[in-house]
Amino acid sequence: MPLLLWGALLWGALLRGALLGGALLGGDAPEGPGPRCAARHNLSCTAKSSSADDYFYLIRGKQVKITYIESQYFKLACEAGVALGDPALPALPRAAPLARVVLLGCAPPPAGYAAALAALNVSVGAGGALELREQPAAPALRAAHLAGLRLAELELARGGGLTRPPDEPLRPHADALTALPASLRVLRLRHAALQPDALRALPPALGWLLLENVTGPAPAAALVRLPALERLTLADAALRRLDLRGSALRDVSLTAPLRELLLGARVERLTLRGALDATLRGDCAALREVQLQNVTRALPARWLARCAGVRRVAVLRSPGALGGEELAGARALRELDACWCGLRELPAQWLADAAQLRALNLSHNALRRLPALPGALQELRATHNRLEPAALQPLGALPALRALVLDHNAPLRDMCGRSGDLDTNTLSPLDRAHGLRLLSLQRCGLRDVCRDWRALRQLAELRLSGNNISSLGADDLRWERAQRSSVDLRLNPVRVDFSHADYLAALSVAPPAAAAAAATELLLDTAQRCDCHDYWFARVLRERPWAVGATLEPLCAGPASAAAGGHRALRDLRLHELACDVSQDCPAGCRCLEWPTGADLLCERAGLAAVPRAPRPGLRELRLAGNDVAELRAADVPASLERLDLSDNRLARVEPAAAALLWDARPRSVLLAGNPLDCSCAALPLLRALAGRPTRVEDLARARCADGRPLAEAAARAAGACGAPPAWALALGALVPAAAAALAAACLVRPATRHRLKRFLFERGLCLRWALGARAADADARPYDAFVSFSHHDQRYADELTRRLERAGRRLCLHERDWLPGEWIPAQIARSVREARRTLVLLSEHFLRSTWARAELREAYGAALGERHPRLLLVLLPGFEAARAAAADPALRAYVERVTYLSWDDAHFWRKLTLALPAGARPAPLAPPAAPPPPP
Ligand SMILES: *[C@@H]1O[C@H](CO)[C@@H](O)[C@H](O)[C@H]1NC(C)=O
Ligand SMILES: *[C@@H]1O[C@H](CO)[C@@H](O)[C@H](O)[C@H]1NC(C)=O
Ligand SMILES: *[C@@H]1O[C@H](CO)[C@@H](O)[C@H](O)[C@H]1NC(C)=O
Ligand SMILES: *[C@@H]1O[C@H](CO)[C@@H](O)[C@H](O)[C@H]1NC(C)=O
Ligand SMILES: *[C@@H]1O[C@H](CO)[C@@H](O)[C@H](O)[C@H]1NC(C)=O
Ligand SMILES: *[C@@H]1O[C@H](CO)[C@@H](O)[C@H](O)[C@H]1NC(C)=O
Repeated sequence: MPLLLWGALLWGALLRGALLGGALLGGDAPEGPGPRCAARHNLSCTAKSSSADDYFYLIRGKQVKITYIESQYFKLACEAGVALGDPALPALPRAAPLARVVLLGCAPPPAGYAAALAALNVSVGAGGALELREQPAAPALRAAHLAGLRLAELELARGGGLTRPPDEPLRPHADALTALPASLRVLRLRHAALQPDALRALPPALGWLLLENVTGPAPAAALVRLPALERLTLADAALRRLDLRGSALRDVSLTAPLRELLLGARVERLTLRGALDATLRGDCAALREVQLQNVTRALPARWLARCAGVRRVAVLRSPGALGGEELAGARALRELDACWCGLRELPAQWLADAAQLRALNLSHNALRRLPALPGALQELRATHNRLEPAALQPLGALPALRALVLDHNAPLRDMCGRSGDLDTNTLSPLDRAHGLRLLSLQRCGLRDVCRDWRALRQLAELRLSGNNISSLGADDLRWERAQRSSVDLRLNPVRVDFSHADYLAALSVAPPAAAAAAATELLLDTAQRCDCHDYWFARVLRERPWAVGATLEPLCAGPASAAAGGHRALRDLRLHELACDVSQDCPAGCRCLEWPTGADLLCERAGLAAVPRAPRPGLRELRLAGNDVAELRAADVPASLERLDLSDNRLARVEPAAAALLWDARPRSVLLAGNPLDCSCAALPLLRALAGRPTRVEDLARARCADGRPLAEAAARAAGACGAPPAWALALGALVPAAAAALAAACLVRPATRHRLKRFLFERGLCLRWALGARAADADARPYDAFVSFSHHDQRYADELTRRLERAGRRLCLHERDWLPGEWIPAQIARSVREARRTLVLLSEHFLRSTWARAELREAYGAALGERHPRLLLVLLPGFEAARAAAADPALRAYVERVTYLSWDDAHFWRKLTLALPAGARPAPLAPPAAPPPPP
C-alpha cells in the first residue's frame, strides 16, 4: 500500500506541475496566442503541435511551421508547398501589428503582401521590418506587391545564406522599388539583378542601404540623391571604383576589389574587405576609424598622414599589407590592431610617429621581436607569436604599461632563466615593469613562476594557466598584495613541495588583522591525484590558511571521483585519504597505505592465518576481514592502532593482554562479527573489557559467541556468572531493533516528512525502489525499457548510456537507430514514447535549444499523465544545473521541483539509473510494420 500511496502522491504533484507549465507544453490544439486553423477549413488545415514559439500544422498534407512571438515576430516558410494567399493558412485570433515579419520562399501573392498578411491577421507595425528571404525567381516582384505596407525596414533576398548560393539572381520588375513607403529607413537587397535605374526613386528618409551581390545600377549615383543616408554596406565582386564625395555617409563598409575609393567629407568609420588598393583618397577630415581585412597589397608609405583624425586602425588577415612606413605621420593613432598579418619582423621605428598610441594588438603573427614602443602605451597584446624573452626587456621602461597579454609564445618558456643554473641572472625581463596590473602568459611552456614578479606590487592578475610549472615551494605561495588579486596556475602539473619544516614555520605565522587581509586567490589544480606528499600542505591549509595565501583552493584529481573526471578541493579531502600506496613492501596479499603520520594495512580476504606485521611503525588501521586468524595476541596490537577489523575470521581467543591494549584509554574501534568467540569464563578479561566499553565494538549487534549467544549478552552475563551484570546490557537488547524500526517507519509512515526523507535517502542511494516506483507495475509488454531523448550535440552521453544500460540488459530506443526512415517525425516521437516504459530525457543547454528534443519531452509528458508510475526521468548532464532547467521552462520547473531527477555527476548515478529502469518482460522485438503474420 505505501508504494501505491507514494505513486499517487508523485502523480498528484506532476498534475499540479502540468497546470503550472501547461502553456508551454500545450496539447494538440494550441489554445494559446498562436495561429489557428479556421473551422470552415477543418479538412485542409490541422494544428499538429506547438513547442515554445513554434507551431506545426498539416495543410493539404504538407507540414507547415509558423514561428510566432506576440507583437514581436512572425515567420512563415512557404517552401513546403503552400502559397501565401492560401485560404487554409491558420490566422492569428487577433489582429496585431508585429515588429518583424519574415517570409521564406513566399512568392508575391497576386493581391500583394499587405492583403495576404491581413487575411492572417498579421501586419507590420509602423517601425517594423518585413523580410522577404529566399524569394523565388518568379513571378517578378512589382511595386503593386509592396503597396499598402507600413514599414521602416525591408529586406529582399534571393540567397539561402552562405551555404546555399543562389543559382540565378532575383529579377524584380523595373518599377519594383519605385513606390516604397516614405517611412522606409533601411533597405537590404541581396542577390538581385536590377534595372540600371531601379534605385532612382528610393524614399528620401532612407538611412541605411545594403547591397550585396546586386548588379545593374551604379550605386554612387543613387547615394548623392539620398540626404539622410548615413550608412552604406556594399558587397560587389565587380566594383573597382567608388566615389562617395557629395554623400551624407558616415559609416561605410565595402567588400570589393576596389582600386580607387574617394571618401566623402562626413565619413567617420570605414571598413574595407578585399580592396586591391587601400589608399585613402578624397576628403578624410572626419575619418576616425579604419578597418581593413583581406588586403594583400602593401599599404603605401605615410598611409594615414593625410587623415589626421584617425584614432583607431585595425588591419586583420592581411598578409603583406604591413611592415613598411605606412604608419609614418599617424600622429593621432590611439589604438592599433594588426592581427593575422603574417608579420615576422617590424622596423624598429614602425611606431615612431604614433606617440599617443595607448593600445596595441599584434596577435597571431610570427614576431620574435617588438618594435620600439611609444611611452604612452598602456596595453600590449601579442598572443600567438614567437616572442623571445629579450623582446620583453624594453617593456620595463614603459611607465604607463598596465596590461601585457602574451599567451601562446613558446620561446618565452625560459624567461625566468634556467632554474638551478646559478651563473645566469635569474631576473625575468619584466622585473622593472612596476606598473603592470595584468600579466597573462598562458600556454607559453613556462617552467617557473619568476621570483621577481612577486615584487611587482601593482600586479593584481597573473594568468599562468596551461604552462609547464611543476613545482612550487612554500615561498611561491605567499603572494601578498595591497589589493584583491588572483594568480591562476591551473592546467599546470604543479606539485606543491611543502615540508614538515615549512609546516612548523607556518604554525608561528600570526593571523593577519582582519582589515589588512587582502585576499589573493591562488588557483591551482593538479594533474595527478593528491597523496602523502601533499599531507603537510593539506594540514597548513586547514590550520593556518593565512600562512599560504588567503583563499588558496587547490584541487586534486579526487581519489574517489577520479573515474568521473571529478576534482575535489584538497581542503575537503580527509587527511587519511592523502595516502601513498607502498604495497611493494607489504605482506603478500595486502595493500599498504602510508602518510607522514601513519599507515594502513589492508589485508581483506588474503588467506592469512595470523595477524601480519606492518612494515613500518605508526599503524593506524588494520583490515583483516575474511581471513583465518584464530588468535589475537598483544604483539598484534600496536599502540598507534585506531581501527581493527577482524570480522569473519576464526577468532576464538583474545589474549588478556591484547584485550587490555584494545580497550585502553585511547579511542579505537574493533569489528568482531562472524567469529566463533570463546565466551566461557576463561574469556573473562575480554568480556569484562567489552562490558566496560561496549560501543568500541562497531558490529556488536551481529557478533556472536561460539555457542550462538549474542556477544553483548554474553558480556553482560559474564560479569554475573563470573561477576555482576552491568545495567547497560539490559537497555542494549531493546535499543538496536527499536532504532531500526524507527528508521523503517520513517521511510513509510509519516506523510509530512516522507518526501523530504525519501529525497534524503534517495540521494544517498537508499530507498531507491520507493522513490522510483514499483517494479511489478512495470511488467507490461512494451518492446523497449526506455526511449532516450537527447540533442544530437549530446550524442557521446547517449552513446555511453546506451553502452552501459544495454550491457545491463535494458532495451533502449534511440531515434537514429530505431526510427523508420521516412515516417513523419512527430509520429515517430509519439510511437517511441508509447512503446517504451520510460522516457529518459538528457537535459542540457543543447536540449533546451532543440525543437525536436522539446517535442519529445512534451510527448513523454503527455503520456506520463495517463499513468500511475513515473514514466519520465530527467537526467541532468554535466554542467547543467537543475535551476537552469527551471528558469528556462516553467514545465521543467514543475518536474525538477517535485520529481526525482538524476545527475550524471552523481557518484551513484549508474546504480540509481539502472534501478530506475526496470527491465521488462522480454517480448519479441517489434516486427517491422509490413512483416507478414507467421503461418498458422
Ligand atoms: C468541419 O466543419 C464542418 C462545418 O464547417 C462541421 O460540420 C464538421 O463537423 C467539422 N469537422 C470536424 C472534424 O471538426
Ligand atoms: C482577426 O482578428 C479579429 C479580432 O482582432 C477576429 O475577430 C477575427 O476573427 C480574426 N480573423 C481570423 C481569420 O481569425
Ligand atoms: C555573389 O553571388 C555569387 C554567386 O551568385 C557568389 O559566388 C558570391 O559568393 C556572392 N558574393 C557575396 C558577397 O555574397
Ligand atoms: C580576399 O580578396 C580576394 C579578392 O580581392 C578574394 O579573391 C579572396 O577570396 C578574399 N579572401 C578572403 C579570405 O576573403
Ligand atoms: C587582439 O586582436 C585579436 C584579433 O583581432 C582579438 O581576438 C583579440 O580579442 C584582441 N584583443 C583585444 C584586447 O582587443
Ligand atoms: C615540461 O618540463 C619537463 C621538465 O621539467 C620536460 O621534460 C617536459 O618536456 C616539459 N613539457 C613541455 C610540454 O614542455
